[in-house]
Amino acid sequence: MSRKQFVAGNWKMNLNNASAVKLAEGLVAKLAGNAKVDVAVCPPFPYLAAVGKALAGSKIALGAQDMFYEEDGAYTGEVSAAMLKDVGCTYVILGHSERRHVIGETDELINRKQLKAIAAGLLPIFCVGELLAERQAEETTEVVSRQVRLGLEGVSAADARKVTVAYEPVWAIGTGVVATVQQAQEVHKMIRQLLAEMYDSATAQAMRIQYGGSVKASNAAELLACEDIDGALVGGASLKVDEFAGIIAGAR
Ligand code: 13P
Repeated sequence: MSRKQFVAGNWKMNLNNASAVKLAEGLVAKLAGNAKVDVAVCPPFPYLAAVGKALAGSKIALGAQDMFYEEDGAYTGEVSAAMLKDVGCTYVILGHSERRHVIGETDELINRKQLKAIAAGLLPIFCVGELLAERQAEETTEVVSRQVRLGLEGVSAADARKVTVAYEPVWAIGTGVVATVQQAQEVHKMIRQLLAEMYDSATAQAMRIQYGGSVKASNAAELLACEDIDGALVGGASLKVDEFAGIIAGAR
Protein backbone atom coordinates (compact mmCIF):
# COMPACT_ATOMS: atom_id res chain seq x y z
CA MET A 1 0.00 0.00 0.00
CA SER A 2 1.62 3.21 -1.12
CA ARG A 3 -0.60 5.89 0.36
CA LYS A 4 1.45 8.46 2.27
CA GLN A 5 -0.21 9.23 5.58
CA PHE A 6 -1.58 12.73 6.08
CA VAL A 7 -2.11 14.46 9.41
CA ALA A 8 -3.95 17.78 9.44
CA GLY A 9 -4.64 20.11 12.34
CA ASN A 10 -8.02 21.81 12.37
CA TRP A 11 -7.53 24.77 14.68
CA LYS A 12 -11.26 25.60 14.52
CA MET A 13 -12.22 28.98 16.07
CA ASN A 14 -9.27 29.15 18.45
CA LEU A 15 -6.11 31.18 19.07
CA ASN A 16 -5.24 34.78 18.22
CA ASN A 17 -2.73 36.24 15.80
CA ALA A 18 0.24 35.92 18.14
CA SER A 19 -0.57 32.46 19.47
CA ALA A 20 -1.37 31.12 15.99
CA VAL A 21 2.01 32.29 14.67
CA LYS A 22 3.76 30.91 17.76
CA LEU A 23 2.09 27.51 17.28
CA ALA A 24 3.12 27.45 13.61
CA GLU A 25 6.70 28.39 14.48
CA GLY A 26 6.79 25.71 17.15
CA LEU A 27 5.59 23.10 14.67
CA VAL A 28 8.13 24.16 12.06
CA ALA A 29 10.94 23.79 14.60
CA LYS A 30 9.67 20.46 15.91
CA LEU A 31 8.78 18.81 12.61
CA ALA A 32 11.67 19.99 10.46
CA GLY A 33 12.94 16.45 9.90
CA ASN A 34 9.57 14.91 9.06
CA ALA A 35 9.32 13.58 5.52
CA LYS A 36 7.36 10.40 6.15
CA VAL A 37 3.97 12.05 6.62
CA ASP A 38 2.17 14.92 4.87
CA VAL A 39 1.26 17.59 7.42
CA ALA A 40 -1.07 20.58 7.20
CA VAL A 41 -2.55 23.11 9.60
CA CYS A 42 -5.86 24.89 9.10
CA PRO A 43 -6.03 28.18 11.06
CA PRO A 44 -9.01 30.54 11.18
CA PHE A 45 -9.28 32.80 8.09
CA PRO A 46 -7.85 35.98 9.69
CA TYR A 47 -4.59 34.19 10.56
CA LEU A 48 -3.99 32.32 7.29
CA ALA A 49 -1.53 34.84 5.89
CA ALA A 50 0.49 35.20 9.09
CA VAL A 51 0.60 31.44 9.68
CA GLY A 52 1.51 30.89 6.01
CA LYS A 53 4.46 33.23 6.49
CA ALA A 54 5.58 31.30 9.57
CA LEU A 55 5.37 28.04 7.60
CA ALA A 56 7.28 29.37 4.56
CA GLY A 57 10.13 27.10 3.54
CA SER A 58 8.87 24.23 5.72
CA LYS A 59 7.10 21.05 4.62
CA ILE A 60 3.97 21.96 6.58
CA ALA A 61 1.15 22.96 4.26
CA LEU A 62 -1.52 25.56 4.88
CA GLY A 63 -5.24 24.80 4.75
CA ALA A 64 -8.48 26.68 5.36
CA GLN A 65 -11.52 25.48 7.28
CA ASP A 66 -14.17 26.33 4.69
CA MET A 67 -14.82 28.33 1.51
CA PHE A 68 -17.72 29.44 -0.70
CA TYR A 69 -18.40 28.05 -4.17
CA GLU A 70 -18.87 31.30 -6.09
CA GLU A 71 -15.98 32.97 -7.90
CA ASP A 72 -16.46 36.45 -6.44
CA GLY A 73 -19.16 39.06 -5.93
CA ALA A 74 -21.85 40.05 -3.45
CA TYR A 75 -21.55 37.23 -0.88
CA THR A 76 -21.00 39.09 2.35
CA GLY A 77 -18.91 37.20 4.84
CA GLU A 78 -17.84 34.47 2.42
CA VAL A 79 -14.33 33.58 1.22
CA SER A 80 -13.55 32.26 -2.28
CA ALA A 81 -11.28 29.44 -3.38
CA ALA A 82 -9.14 31.94 -5.31
CA MET A 83 -8.64 34.00 -2.14
CA LEU A 84 -7.46 30.89 -0.31
CA LYS A 85 -5.03 30.07 -3.12
CA ASP A 86 -3.88 33.67 -3.06
CA VAL A 87 -2.83 33.48 0.60
CA GLY A 88 -1.02 30.20 0.05
CA CYS A 89 -3.54 27.50 0.93
CA THR A 90 -3.03 24.02 -0.45
CA TYR A 91 -5.96 22.38 1.33
CA VAL A 92 -9.49 23.31 2.35
CA ILE A 93 -11.69 21.45 4.85
CA LEU A 94 -15.21 20.97 3.48
CA GLY A 95 -18.34 19.63 5.14
CA HIS A 96 -16.96 19.55 8.65
CA SER A 97 -19.57 18.23 11.09
CA GLU A 98 -19.66 21.58 12.88
CA ARG A 99 -20.63 23.21 9.61
CA ARG A 100 -23.17 20.50 8.83
CA HIS A 101 -24.74 20.46 12.29
CA VAL A 102 -24.13 23.91 13.80
CA ILE A 103 -24.36 26.04 10.64
CA GLY A 104 -26.72 23.75 8.70
CA GLU A 105 -24.70 22.94 5.57
CA THR A 106 -26.31 20.39 3.26
CA ASP A 107 -24.76 17.68 1.12
CA GLU A 108 -25.68 19.74 -1.94
CA LEU A 109 -23.90 22.85 -0.68
CA ILE A 110 -20.84 20.84 0.28
CA ASN A 111 -20.81 19.26 -3.20
CA ARG A 112 -20.82 22.70 -4.85
CA LYS A 113 -17.88 23.73 -2.68
CA GLN A 114 -16.09 20.48 -3.53
CA LEU A 115 -16.42 21.04 -7.28
CA LYS A 116 -15.24 24.63 -6.99
CA ALA A 117 -12.32 23.81 -4.70
CA ILE A 118 -11.04 21.17 -7.13
CA ALA A 119 -11.53 23.45 -10.13
CA ALA A 120 -9.54 26.16 -8.35
CA GLY A 121 -6.66 23.81 -7.57
CA LEU A 122 -7.30 23.34 -3.85
CA LEU A 123 -7.13 19.87 -2.30
CA PRO A 124 -10.32 19.19 -0.31
CA ILE A 125 -10.37 17.49 3.08
CA PHE A 126 -13.94 16.27 2.76
CA CYS A 127 -15.55 15.39 6.10
CA VAL A 128 -18.26 12.81 6.68
CA GLY A 129 -19.58 11.13 9.80
CA GLU A 130 -22.67 9.97 11.63
CA LEU A 131 -24.38 11.37 14.73
CA LEU A 132 -24.58 9.27 17.89
CA ALA A 133 -28.29 8.63 17.36
CA GLU A 134 -27.57 7.46 13.81
CA ARG A 135 -24.91 5.02 15.04
CA GLN A 136 -27.24 3.74 17.72
CA ALA A 137 -29.95 3.24 15.10
CA GLU A 138 -27.39 1.29 13.01
CA GLU A 139 -27.58 3.88 10.26
CA THR A 140 -23.85 4.61 10.08
CA THR A 141 -23.28 2.95 6.70
CA GLU A 142 -26.34 4.57 5.18
CA VAL A 143 -25.54 8.07 6.47
CA VAL A 144 -21.85 8.01 5.61
CA SER A 145 -22.48 6.46 2.18
CA ARG A 146 -25.02 9.17 1.36
CA GLN A 147 -22.60 11.90 2.44
CA VAL A 148 -19.77 10.40 0.36
CA ARG A 149 -21.92 9.88 -2.74
CA LEU A 150 -23.57 13.30 -2.68
CA GLY A 151 -20.41 15.15 -1.68
CA LEU A 152 -18.48 13.66 -4.59
CA GLU A 153 -21.23 13.93 -7.19
CA GLY A 154 -19.78 15.09 -10.49
CA VAL A 155 -16.17 14.62 -9.32
CA SER A 156 -14.21 12.55 -11.87
CA ALA A 157 -11.99 9.65 -10.87
CA ALA A 158 -8.89 11.69 -11.66
CA ASP A 159 -10.11 14.55 -9.46
CA ALA A 160 -11.28 12.22 -6.68
CA ARG A 161 -7.61 11.35 -6.09
CA LYS A 162 -7.08 14.96 -5.02
CA VAL A 163 -9.68 14.55 -2.28
CA THR A 164 -8.88 13.33 1.22
CA VAL A 165 -11.99 11.91 2.88
CA ALA A 166 -12.07 12.53 6.64
CA TYR A 167 -14.27 10.14 8.59
CA GLU A 168 -15.24 11.96 11.77
CA PRO A 169 -17.95 10.26 13.83
CA VAL A 170 -19.74 13.25 15.35
CA TRP A 171 -20.00 11.60 18.77
CA ALA A 172 -16.19 11.36 18.92
CA ILE A 173 -15.47 15.02 18.13
CA GLY A 174 -14.27 17.05 21.08
CA THR A 175 -15.80 14.55 23.49
CA GLY A 176 -12.72 12.58 24.47
CA VAL A 177 -14.58 9.49 23.25
CA VAL A 178 -12.48 8.08 20.46
CA ALA A 179 -13.95 5.46 18.14
CA THR A 180 -12.42 2.08 18.82
CA VAL A 181 -9.84 0.98 16.31
CA GLN A 182 -12.33 -1.65 15.06
CA GLN A 183 -15.17 0.89 14.69
CA ALA A 184 -12.92 3.29 12.78
CA GLN A 185 -11.32 0.68 10.52
CA GLU A 186 -14.72 -0.82 9.72
CA VAL A 187 -16.13 2.48 8.45
CA HIS A 188 -12.92 3.36 6.61
CA LYS A 189 -13.04 0.01 4.82
CA MET A 190 -16.68 0.58 3.94
CA ILE A 191 -15.86 4.03 2.53
CA ARG A 192 -13.04 2.57 0.43
CA GLN A 193 -15.35 -0.13 -0.94
CA LEU A 194 -17.89 2.54 -1.80
CA LEU A 195 -15.22 4.61 -3.58
CA ALA A 196 -14.27 1.50 -5.56
CA GLU A 197 -17.93 1.11 -6.59
CA MET A 198 -18.28 4.79 -7.46
CA TYR A 199 -14.96 4.95 -9.31
CA ASP A 200 -12.70 1.93 -9.60
CA SER A 201 -10.44 -0.02 -7.34
CA ALA A 202 -7.23 1.82 -8.31
CA THR A 203 -8.83 5.18 -7.49
CA ALA A 204 -10.17 3.87 -4.18
CA GLN A 205 -6.74 2.51 -3.29
CA ALA A 206 -5.08 5.82 -4.12
CA MET A 207 -7.47 7.99 -2.07
CA ARG A 208 -6.57 8.86 1.51
CA ILE A 209 -9.12 8.48 4.29
CA GLN A 210 -8.30 10.26 7.55
CA TYR A 211 -9.88 9.51 10.90
CA GLY A 212 -10.93 12.40 13.15
CA GLY A 213 -12.43 12.58 16.61
CA SER A 214 -10.47 12.91 19.85
CA VAL A 215 -7.17 11.84 18.27
CA LYS A 216 -4.23 12.50 20.55
CA ALA A 217 -0.61 11.41 20.87
CA SER A 218 -1.59 8.52 23.15
CA ASN A 219 -4.11 6.91 20.78
CA ALA A 220 -2.77 7.90 17.34
CA ALA A 221 -0.43 4.99 16.70
CA GLU A 222 -3.05 2.26 17.05
CA LEU A 223 -5.50 4.12 14.81
CA LEU A 224 -2.86 4.97 12.23
CA ALA A 225 -1.69 1.35 12.12
CA CYS A 226 -5.02 0.28 10.57
CA GLU A 227 -4.98 -0.75 6.93
CA ASP A 228 -7.55 1.79 5.74
CA ILE A 229 -6.69 4.71 8.07
CA ASP A 230 -4.38 7.01 6.15
CA GLY A 231 -3.98 9.81 8.62
CA ALA A 232 -5.81 11.98 11.09
CA LEU A 233 -7.78 15.21 11.18
CA VAL A 234 -7.04 16.60 14.61
CA GLY A 235 -8.91 19.28 16.53
CA GLY A 236 -8.01 19.99 20.17
CA ALA A 237 -4.71 18.13 20.17
CA SER A 238 -3.47 20.11 17.16
CA LEU A 239 -3.30 23.25 19.31
CA LYS A 240 -0.31 21.89 21.25
CA VAL A 241 3.04 21.41 19.53
CA ASP A 242 4.02 18.30 21.49
CA GLU A 243 0.64 16.58 21.16
CA PHE A 244 0.44 17.24 17.43
CA ALA A 245 4.06 16.13 16.92
CA GLY A 246 3.27 13.02 18.98
CA ILE A 247 0.38 12.16 16.66
CA ILE A 248 2.63 12.58 13.62
CA ALA A 249 5.24 10.36 15.27
CA GLY A 250 2.54 7.68 15.57
CA ALA A 251 2.03 7.49 11.80
CA ARG A 252 3.30 4.38 10.04
P1 13P B 1 -11.16 16.83 18.19
O1 13P B 1 -9.82 16.25 17.80
O2 13P B 1 -11.04 18.02 19.08
O3 13P B 1 -12.07 15.77 18.72
O4 13P B 1 -11.83 17.38 16.85
C1 13P B 1 -11.85 16.57 15.74
C2 13P B 1 -12.24 17.39 14.58
O5 13P B 1 -13.38 17.82 14.47
C3 13P B 1 -11.22 17.69 13.58
O6 13P B 1 -11.79 18.27 12.45
